[in-house]
Amino acid sequence: MELGECVVLVTGGAHGIGRALCRRIQQEHPGGIVIADRDLSAARSVAEESGGLAIECDVSQEVDVQNAVQQTINRYGRLDAVLSNAGVTAKGGVETPDADWNRLWQVNVMAHVYLARAALPHLLEREAGAFVVTASAAGLLTEIGSAAYSVTKHASVAFAEWLSVHYRNQGLKVSCLCPAGVATDFLDLEDPIHQFLHVSSVTPEHVAECVIEALRKETFLVLPHAEVEEFFQFKTQHYDRWLHNFAHVNTRLQKRRSRQTTPHATGETP
Ligand SMILES: NC(=O)c1ccc[n+]([C@@H]2O[C@H](COP(=O)([O-])OP(=O)(O)OC[C@H]3O[C@@H](n4cnc5c(N)ncnc54)[C@H](O)[C@@H]3O)[C@@H](O)[C@H]2O)c1
Repeated sequence: MELGECVVLVTGGAHGIGRALCRRIQQEHPGGIVIADRDLSAARSVAEESGGLAIECDVSQEVDVQNAVQQTINRYGRLDAVLSNAGVTAKGGVETPDADWNRLWQVNVMAHVYLARAALPHLLEREAGAFVVTASAAGLLTEIGSAAYSVTKHASVAFAEWLSVHYRNQGLKVSCLCPAGVATDFLDLEDPIHQFLHVSSVTPEHVAECVIEALRKETFLVLPHAEVEEFFQFKTQHYDRWLHNFAHVNTRLQKRRSRQTTPHATGETP
């Protein structure tokens, strides 16, 4: 799919990957860009750059998502592509409070469902629409530092797969973006696990380029890091060995984390 003349809606477009996507899409001369984000003033700055429309939208609220789609139609009269990109994280394992599990479920999963409900009638109208879910490598592998992020990103991959299977023969192109570390404010550089991700992180501009290429080639998985594809293949072929290897990485990173939080602790070099 080429985005020239298309009307594109990007959630979480005010910062990071979403902002890079908006800037890159602008180079394709679209018919319109809508930046839907809970941070309206930053969304407005991106809209000014790209000549688009900024909409205040909390994607965890279905009414806000419906409003964003309706405002898109009111302004441009059509909707051709949706980049459902907003996402949040929370550190922790099983002790993570239910409130955080629920927040991640709403933003990382239900927001895609709300957007699909509102946008599909428009995307299917011309039998040529596109729906891109920003998941994460955590949705194919795991995120050692966050149980809730890993689980909800797996669910977002599952939802993207389901959409692809269900609507492919009606002309909908579904892609699922699964990056590992990307150099945005999302990474907490005080945290050893995010530091580990940052070592091999890519720029949001590189991610945006990969998304444009995937839309052009109509590929489902968008993998800006070559190693994610390798790890994913290894996981599907040697599941137990993959778990063993990740457990080893987990042990090293947890040791590093406890050394950082306990100044006098000593231990094995990770
Ligand atoms: N940065 C990474 O290392 C990385 C890696 C893999 C996947 N991702 C995913 O990429 C997506 C974008 O992340 P990013 O790195 O650009 O993060 P970011 O924090 O830089 O940007 C996230 C954007 O989403 C918006 N947002 C958050 N919650 C929202 C809500 N409830 N409603 C509307 N907007 C909301 C924020 O205002 C912000 O503009 C997320 O889904 C994230 O999970 C990021």
